Amino acid sequence: MDKVFIFDTTLRDGEQSPGASMSLEQKYELAVQLGRLGVDVIEAGFPVSSPHQFESCRYISERLKGPTVAALARAVEKDLESAAEAVKKAEKPRIHTFIATSPLHMKHKLNKDPDTVVEMAVKAVTYARNKVPEVEFSPEDATRSELPFLCRILEKVINAGATILNIPDTVGYAVPEEFGRFIKAIKEGVPNIDKAIISVHCHNDLGLAVANTLAGVQNGARQVEVTLNGIGERAGNASLEEFVMALYVRRDLVPLATNINTNQLWNSCKLLSSIIGFPIPRNKPIVGENAFAHESGIHQDGVLKKRETYEIMTPESVGREVSKIVLGRHSGLHGFKTRLGELGFSLAENELKAAYEHFLQIADRKKEVFDDDLFVIVSEQMDSGQEAYLLDYFSIQSGNKAVPTAAVRLKTDDRLVEEAATGDGPVDAIFKAVDRVTGLKTELKEFAVQAVTPEKTAMGEVSVAVEIDGRTYSGHGASTDILEASAKAYINALNRYRRVSQIKTKA
Ligand code: KIV
Ligand code: ZN
Repeated sequence: MDKVFIFDTTLRDGEQSPGASMSLEQKYELAVQLGRLGVDVIEAGFPVSSPHQFESCRYISERLKGPTVAALARAVEKDLESAAEAVKKAEKPRIHTFIATSPLHMKHKLNKDPDTVVEMAVKAVTYARNKVPEVEFSPEDATRSELPFLCRILEKVINAGATILNIPDTVGYAVPEEFGRFIKAIKEGVPNIDKAIISVHCHNDLGLAVANTLAGVQNGARQVEVTLNGIGERAGNASLEEFVMALYVRRDLVPLATNINTNQLWNSCKLLSSIIGFPIPRNKPIVGENAFAHESGIHQDGVLKKRETYEIMTPESVGREVSKIVLGRHSGLHGFKTRLGELGFSLAENELKAAYEHFLQIADRKKEVFDDDLFVIVSEQMDSGQEAYLLDYFSIQSGNKAVPTAAVRLKTDDRLVEEAATGDGPVDAIFKAVDRVTGLKTELKEFAVQAVTPEKTAMGEVSVAVEIDGRTYSGHGASTDILEASAKAYINALNRYRRVSQIKTKA
C-alpha cells in the first residue's frame, strides 16, 4: 500500500492552544512517546518566537532518535537562521518555512504585493536548503488564495529546493469535497509537482479538519499535519488518532497505510492530556471514556452476541486494553517501573523514585491504583522540581451555616508563607488565600472536577483555567481529596504563569 507520512505538530501548533504550554522536560517526554507511536515528523516548535521555543527545539533535536525534527520559520532570515541553529544536531532535520498567499493576508497582514511574496518565498527556501537537507514550504491561508498564484509560487519554491509542499486550511474554511478538488488542482497545475510531496494541514473551525485531511489524501496528498487530541490554534487541528483510525478502518475505501503503531494511540493521548491538564471529553472519538462503551440494552445484547454489530474497531487496536496488573500499596518499585514502561514513560532514576513515593501515598488512601491514576501521578512528577509555589499545608472550615474559611501555607523562594481568607465556598476560600500569598491578580475562567477512576475512593482530578495579565493558564491537580486537588490545580496554573513570565523576562 502507498504510505501517508504523519507530521505531528502537537508541540508547535498544538501548543498554541490557549493554556496548553509545556515545559522543556514535558515536551521531550511527549516527543519520545511520539517516536514510539511511530510519527514520521515532529514539529518541535517555532524557535525564533522565544528562547523557550528555541531551547526545546534544540533539546529535542539533540536527543531524539527516529523521527525527522522540524522547526517552523517565517520567510525571513532571522527566523530561518534560528530554525537552522535549533535543528542542526537532529538526526533528520527539516526547516518548515511559510508565508501567506491569500489576497486578504498579503494586503492587510503583510502589506506586500504578490511578486514580493514569491521572491521572499524563493529566497527563504534557497537559504533554508543551504542549511538543511529537507525544506518544507507552506503558503499560509492557501484555501483562500487564488489557484493560479498558488501554483506559480509552488512551482518556484520546488525549483528552489522545497520537497514538501504543505497546503494549510489556516482558518478551517474549506469543506471536504472542495478541499479535495483544490488538492487535485494543485497536483495538476504545478508542472514540477512530481519532485515534491503534497502535505495538508487542516484546522477545525467548522469541525471538518479530519474530513478535509482525508479528502486531501484521497486526492494525492501524502503527508498530513495533525495533533494528538486535535489540539491547536483556536478550534484545533485535525486529530492524529481520528485520522489514523479513519484511514485504518476504511482502508477498503482509502487504501493507504501509515507507520503509526495504533496500539500506542491511547497512551499518547492520555499522556498529552495529563501534561497539559486538558481532560479528554467523554465522547471524543477513539480515546474518550465513552468511545467503546455500550449503554443501551439493544447495543449491549448485540455486542455480546457479536462484537462487530456495534464496534467498527476494537479497543485493543488503539491500545485500550484493560491492564492485567493492578498496583496497590504492596507493589514494589520494580512492578511500578514495569507498568510505567508499558504505559510509555521513561523516567530518570530520581524522578522514578519520587513518583514511586507519590504513588505509595496514593496507594495508602486508595486500595487499587489504576493506569489512569498512574498518568496523573507521573504528569505531576514531570511538573515538579521547578515550581515557584508549592503547597505545604491547607486547612478548611466549612459547613452549610458557617462562613467558609481557608488557611493556606505555600513554599515560595524557600520561604513558607501563610495566609487565610473567607470565600463563597471552600474552594473559593482556598483560591483567595493562595492569591494573598502570591499577590497575583487572577480571574478563574474554568473549574472542572472529574473522577480519575470510577470507584468510591477514586482520585478526583481538578482542571482550572486562570487568566493572568490577559493570558489563560491551565492547571490540574489530583488527590483523593477534592479540596486538595483544587488547591493543587490552582497552584499548578500559577506556576505555569510564573514559568512563562520567567521565560519572557529572560527574552
Ligand atoms: O495553520 C497554518 O497555516 C499554519 C502554518 C504555519 C502551516 O500553522
Ligand atoms: Zn496551523
